[in-house]
Amino acid sequence: MAGPYDLIVIGTGPGGYVCAIRAAQLGLNVAVIEKRDAHGGTCLNVGCIPSKALLHASELYEEAGHGFAKMGIKVAPELDLAAMLAFKDEGVTGNTQGVAYLLKKNKIDSYRGIGKVLGAAKVLVTAADGTEQELATKSIVIATGSDVAQLPGLEINEKTIISSTGALELPSVPKKMIVVGAGVIGLELGSVWRRLGSEVTVVEFLDRILPEMDGDIAKTAKRILTKQGMAFKLGHKVTGAEPSSGGDSGASGLSVSIEPAQGGETQTLDADVVLVAIGRTPYTDGLGLAEAGVAFDERRRVAVDAHYKTNIDGIYAIGDVIAGPMLAHKAEDEGVAVAEILAGQAGHVNYNVIPGVVYTFPEIASVGRTEEELKQAGIAFAAGKFPFTANGRAKVNGTTDGFIKVLADAKTDRILGVHMIGANASEMIAEAAVIMEFGGSAEDLARTCHAHPTLTEAVKEAAMAVEGRAIHM
Ligand code: FAD
Ligand code: NAI
Repeated sequence: MAGPYDLIVIGTGPGGYVCAIRAAQLGLNVAVIEKRDAHGGTCLNVGCIPSKALLHASELYEEAGHGFAKMGIKVAPELDLAAMLAFKDEGVTGNTQGVAYLLKKNKIDSYRGIGKVLGAAKVLVTAADGTEQELATKSIVIATGSDVAQLPGLEINEKTIISSTGALELPSVPKKMIVVGAGVIGLELGSVWRRLGSEVTVVEFLDRILPEMDGDIAKTAKRILTKQGMAFKLGHKVTGAEPSSGGDSGASGLSVSIEPAQGGETQTLDADVVLVAIGRTPYTDGLGLAEAGVAFDERRRVAVDAHYKTNIDGIYAIGDVIAGPMLAHKAEDEGVAVAEILAGQAGHVNYNVIPGVVYTFPEIASVGRTEEELKQAGIAFAAGKFPFTANGRAKVNGTTDGFIKVLADAKTDRILGVHMIGANASEMIAEAAVIMEFGGSAEDLARTCHAHPTLTEAVKEAAMAVEGRAIHM
């Protein structure tokens, strides 16, 4: 038996590899187990990183075709999809190799195979060729992430009925794409294929898009995305998809049945490809957690306490496999926190300040509570709103769609939430997160000098608008 280690981490996504590195920095003897060929988990291999590569490339393609001419640049872009997919793959490889390098640099032993918990102090690794090896350890961190949620009646084959993974490697641009779910994946990957030439229709069960986001922001996002050419069928559900030879798309087409969310008359829509993006479920297959006595919560997530400990001493869990937003940075911060706790320090994550970003164009970003959440909690607040049409940099860049909203406590002025839709929102939300982490007020933000001309001046103006004293509005 190899070991004993101080810590074995199962899964090397953003939660697992960051946890392993932090634990090694703090002097623990650490090993990781990963069943994929490359480290980095969902995020680096089939999630955040490849999707952002395609969002970036497709955004530039669209800009070259529709935005350059008005700036005096005449070009006629031609899509080379194979090269675009290769560009994405190169970005993925660069990132996954970076993780392998960091694990090695921190002297972390890396085992390839499926990890299975054999009690609190032993893990079995089964390699792809069936070879088994037992490892001894003082602690185990489960960081096995999540998997695509399936929709009954739509079996994913990654060719015509696809998950986000298939949507990252379609070999040709489908003429018509139906996206099931107007959440983050549906809007991001729907945007990619619309920009590359697909007619995209998004079918959403609820009567709004992006259910987790501030209602004002989601409404604006729907208006802008519709203007860009994305169609929405809200309040509907997809009930099935059959191969059809009679559709607009020819022999490989699908006839997709949809009906009102509350039931009613069935309609059919033609599509070449259906992207199922209705959420993700925690992944614990083959881990042996039930046999080891580890408890789950009501949504089959691994149940943990405030220190990420399961009900079994020595077994911890972090990331998508436990409760909370399924986000890479949330998993990373939990990885750091549990490593620090295991090293005898006071690891902690502030769940009130976890930014969320949707990488459409314009980008959508949010941190803290939405107006709806504050109203429901009965918290009195003041809102300051500032549109990008009134921001100098946005005007000269021609990116005036969107606005920023700052929500502050009505009595104390402490910032409770910041929500934005606009170019570069993914970068600008960091400022809001920092000020909220320090318990700052709208006035603190309003009195902070911001460089001119920048889009960030809109953040300052929105903070000034909380007291009705925005200058440029
Ligand atoms: P994962 O990244 O899922 O890693 C778990 C790892 O564990 C995997 O590598 C898996 O192979 C391994 N594993 C599982 N079981 C075993 C076992 N028994 N033995 C050994 N190894 C095992 N989040 C963002 O914050 N920003 C984004 O822009 C973003 N974009 C996304 C885009 C897409 C298309 C998708 C699908 C997700 C996106 N996410 C994004 C979500 C993000 O990918 C996840 O929140 C994040 O990867 C969770 O990290 P994790 O470490 O918990 O798990
Ligand atoms: P999601 O939870 O964001 O959205 C799913 C959507 O599908 C919801 O709007 C829901 O109402 C709808 N839906 C559910 N069942 C339906 C049905 N039967 N018919 C029609 N609509 C239905 O999930 P998504 O987009 O699959 O993403 C999964 C996870 O990955 C998210 O939790 C997200 O946090 C993470 N992610 C994060 C990204 C980012 O940070 N930029 C990018 C992509 C994914």
